[in-house]
Amino acid sequence: MGAVIRIEPAAGLTGNIVVPGDKSISHRSIMLAGLAKTPVLVKNFLFAQDCLSTVSCMQALGVKVEQKAGHELVVTGNGLRGLVEPDNILDAGNSGTTLRLLLGILAAQPFFSAFTGDASLRSRPMGRVIKPLADMGAVIAARRKGRLLPLSIAPAAGRLTGIDYHMPMASAQVKSAVLLAGMFADGTTTVTEPYASRDHTERMLETFGAGLEKNGTAVRLRGVAELSAPAAIEVPGDISSAAFWLVAASIIPGSKVTLSNVGINPTRTGILDVLGQMGADIQLTNERWSGREPVADITVKHARLQGVSIDGAIIPRLVDEIPVLAVAAMFAAGRTIISGAEELRVKETDRLKAVATEFTKLGGLITETKDGLLIDPSPNLRSAVCYSYHDHRIAMALAVAGAAAQGVEIEQPDCVAISYPGFYAQLNRFNG
Ligand code: S3P
Repeated sequence: MGAVIRIEPAAGLTGNIVVPGDKSISHRSIMLAGLAKTPVLVKNFLFAQDCLSTVSCMQALGVKVEQKAGHELVVTGNGLRGLVEPDNILDAGNSGTTLRLLLGILAAQPFFSAFTGDASLRSRPMGRVIKPLADMGAVIAARRKGRLLPLSIAPAAGRLTGIDYHMPMASAQVKSAVLLAGMFADGTTTVTEPYASRDHTERMLETFGAGLEKNGTAVRLRGVAELSAPAAIEVPGDISSAAFWLVAASIIPGSKVTLSNVGINPTRTGILDVLGQMGADIQLTNERWSGREPVADITVKHARLQGVSIDGAIIPRLVDEIPVLAVAAMFAAGRTIISGAEELRVKETDRLKAVATEFTKLGGLITETKDGLLIDPSPNLRSAVCYSYHDHRIAMALAVAGAAAQGVEIEQPDCVAISYPGFYAQLNRFNG
C-alpha cells in the first residue's frame, strides 16, 4: 500500500456493503473455543491483524487452529485446564483485547508466561488489569512499576481467589480479564462497572455453559470445572466497521447503502442512537439472532444532520466510533459536544488529540477538551496530508472525511489491516 494513500472524493454510496466479522467477538471465540474440549467451527471470523495476534498466542499455548475455506476456522482446545507453557514470549501486536483478556486467563495458569506488543501497546496502561488480578492472587511483574509491557506472569502460589471488584472506568477488557480469571478461581467473582461496556464475554461465557448472574452493571461468576462448547459460532458483522459507512452515507449526498448482517448488541449500538438523534436516516430490517448476539441489516440514506451533546452512559456504547462521529459532526448544523470520553486518550493512540490535530489540517473546526471534543460545522474542508498515528480507526475516519469533501492523503495508511483489511478497496468503489 505504501507510506501514503490518496483518498478521492466519493460520489453517493449505493448498493450493498458486507462489513467484516466483529473484532471483539472474533477474539473471544478463539479464546473460549481454545479452552473447550471439543472442536468449534468459527464462521465469519475476522481475518485481520488483531485477531490473528490472538490466534498465534492461542497456538503458542497448545491450541490447534485450522483455517478452512473463506472466513472459517476450526479451533480445538484441550479443555479448561489444558493450556501449555509457551516456549517464547507471547506477542499481542497492536491488540489490547488479545493482551488484556489473555492476561486474565494466563494469570490463573500453573506455568510461566510473558507478553510484549508493538510500540503502541507497550505504551498503554496495563495496571488497570494487573491490579484486580493481583488482588485475586496472580503474580505479575511489569515494566514501570507494574504499569507497562513487557510483563511476565509467574504461577500463583495456589488457586486464584474470587473478588468483588468495582472498576474505576467502564472497560470491557478489564471486566473480561477479571471474569476469565474468575472461571479458574475459588469462590465467586463479581465485577461492577460505572457504566455498562460491551458484554460479548458474558454472552459467550453463557454460550459455553458458564453460569452468570447480572444485576445492573454487576456481573457475578462462580468458578467453572469445564466449558461445554457449541459446535459452531457465527460471528456477526462488526458495527464498529459499519460505523464508517453509516457516517459516509449520511453525509455524502445521493447515498443509500445497505450493510448486511451487522451485530446490534445494545452495548454497541450507541452510534445508531446518536446518529438517529442527529437526524440520520437509518432503518434496521431482518432483525435476528446469531447465537446470543442480535444482528440486523442496516439501510442508511443521506440526511441533513444536527449537532448533538453526548456524555455519560452512551460513551462506552460508542467508544470506538468517536473518531468517525467527529466526521459526522463536522458535516452537521450546530455544535457537537463530546465529553466523558477520556478513555480515548489510552486507545491505540491518544484519539482526542489525533482527531483534533488531523481534522484541523483538513479545515475542520474542532478542539480537544480534557475529556472530549468540541466540533463546529466545518463547511470549508480542504484536502491535506494527514497522519494516521498507525491507528486504524483514525486512518478510516480521515478517509471518510476526505471522501465526503475534497479528498485526503493519509500517511501510514496500512494500519487499517488491524480491523478492516479491505476498507480502502471498498471505499474506492465509490470514487466520484
Ligand atoms: C474491546 C473493548 C474496548 C474497545 C476495544 C475492544 C473489547 O476497550 O475500545 O476496541 O473487545 O473488549 P476498553 O475495554 O479498554 O474500553
